[in-house]
Amino acid sequence: MLNSQEYKTLVVVGSQWGDEGKGKITDYYAQDADLVVRFAGGDNAGHIIWNEGKKYKVTIVPSGILNPKVINIIGNGCVVNLTKLNSEMKILQDAGIDTKNLFISDRAHVIFKYNEEIDALQEEVRANRKIGTTKRGIGPTYADKASRCGLRLCDFQESNFKELLQEQVEYHNQLITTIYQGKAVDFATIYQEAINQYEAIKDRIIDCGEFLDHAIRAQKMVLFEGAQGVLLDLDHGTYPFVTSSNTTANNVSIGVGIHNKLINKVIGVAKAYDTRVGTGGMPTELLDETGNRLRERGHEYGSNTGRPRRLGWFDAVAMNYSIRTGGLDTLFITLLDVLDSEETIKICTGYNYQDKVINTILASNTEYEKCTPVYEELPGWKTDITKVTSWEELPVNAKNYINRISELCNVPIQGFSVGPDRKQTINLLDKFGG
Ligand code: GDP
Ligand code: IMO
Ligand code: MG
Repeated sequence: MLNSQEYKTLVVVGSQWGDEGKGKITDYYAQDADLVVRFAGGDNAGHIIWNEGKKYKVTIVPSGILNPKVINIIGNGCVVNLTKLNSEMKILQDAGIDTKNLFISDRAHVIFKYNEEIDALQEEVRANRKIGTTKRGIGPTYADKASRCGLRLCDFQESNFKELLQEQVEYHNQLITTIYQGKAVDFATIYQEAINQYEAIKDRIIDCGEFLDHAIRAQKMVLFEGAQGVLLDLDHGTYPFVTSSNTTANNVSIGVGIHNKLINKVIGVAKAYDTRVGTGGMPTELLDETGNRLRERGHEYGSNTGRPRRLGWFDAVAMNYSIRTGGLDTLFITLLDVLDSEETIKICTGYNYQDKVINTILASNTEYEKCTPVYEELPGWKTDITKVTSWEELPVNAKNYINRISELCNVPIQGFSVGPDRKQTINLLDKFGG
């Protein structure tokens, strides 16, 4: 039995509302990893990774895939659209990326066409309370999982799989046609598609927990990759404007099937400002020219849906909440270069709420939307930092900005990033635990 400090495990999660650059940071640390494992979410995630001038996009394939020696696993906590998975692998292969080291948990739930249909129909009936989901069927698939009528990859091996799927198509068609007045999905088409797509990946199916337990105890370097961000967590995010899974590192052991004591270190990826796609409270949102300018500088448009992302100043109250509920050990600051042009930069240090200043996210989103930010203002650095390769090379005002975030959030800074490419990534602390 090893002492926990001897396990080489690292978790990378988003610490805001998603799109913090987790894909890029996972790809960077994956250079030192033996395994990269996704533990939650589905193809609602969208990660852009640049390496050697080439752009790659992944949604369900783990972001370690660009590193040929790394074993990539989609854990049981994920929900998988098999058609999307196969097409994403094909695109990667066509771009010269080897996908032979990609595996999937036998316990992962499968997203079917009826789940996607219901996701879209539910959004329609939400009228003026729309969540703004990605319409990838994520919520309805996790709902099926909790209702125990979901189908997992291992179920495809059952002799009565066809009947099991038929039952589910009939049940979901009842919902689609009677509750939502939608158009029924066709069983024969869904069944054939499911079988075809399953055949293409069936040799990649493994018992993820067992595989990982051996790997971790053999001191392999294992990186667990989150999707979305702490503030979109089903329990701790700004409910109901959240995703349908637990996005924090606390869900790693459940989402991959290992003991939670095998997890060593958690890096929260944090943008140097805040963004959010979809509905829900965001006290620092900028609905002015500054917001528009930062959106253009940061190319802040959703990589899956193309929606403009909502822009705001860095919210240290929300970050403290993420650190507390998400168990973040260090922060990795991304997109720092997007602030290069700013004369002054604001950080939110408290919320005005009912004639007081508060320092947490409220449970009720309705109340949270009443919070307005208390800011402190720091001078910008007005310098192009995209070629910076070390802490020492950063302009003093950029160092001060990062140090102030660290101080306000009482957390060490793991590193920072000054552009989208793998090379524009600067690590400052130990990487994996141990
Ligand atoms: P993820 O979902 O957390 O992986 O993030 P996304 O890929 O959805 O969004 C992050 C975007 O920022 C991507 O387009 C990245 O290429 C880009 N990006 C990541 N780090 C940096 C950085 O340090 N500077 C700039 N300018 N862009 C970055
Ligand atoms: P990555 O991994 C940003 C948001 C959606 C919506 C809410 C629920 O790229 O950071 P869902 O389709 O999950 O039911 O949508 O969550 N959302 C994301 N926002 N980045 C993501 O993933 C997201 N995944 C879901 O916009 O508000
Ligand atoms: Mg994204």
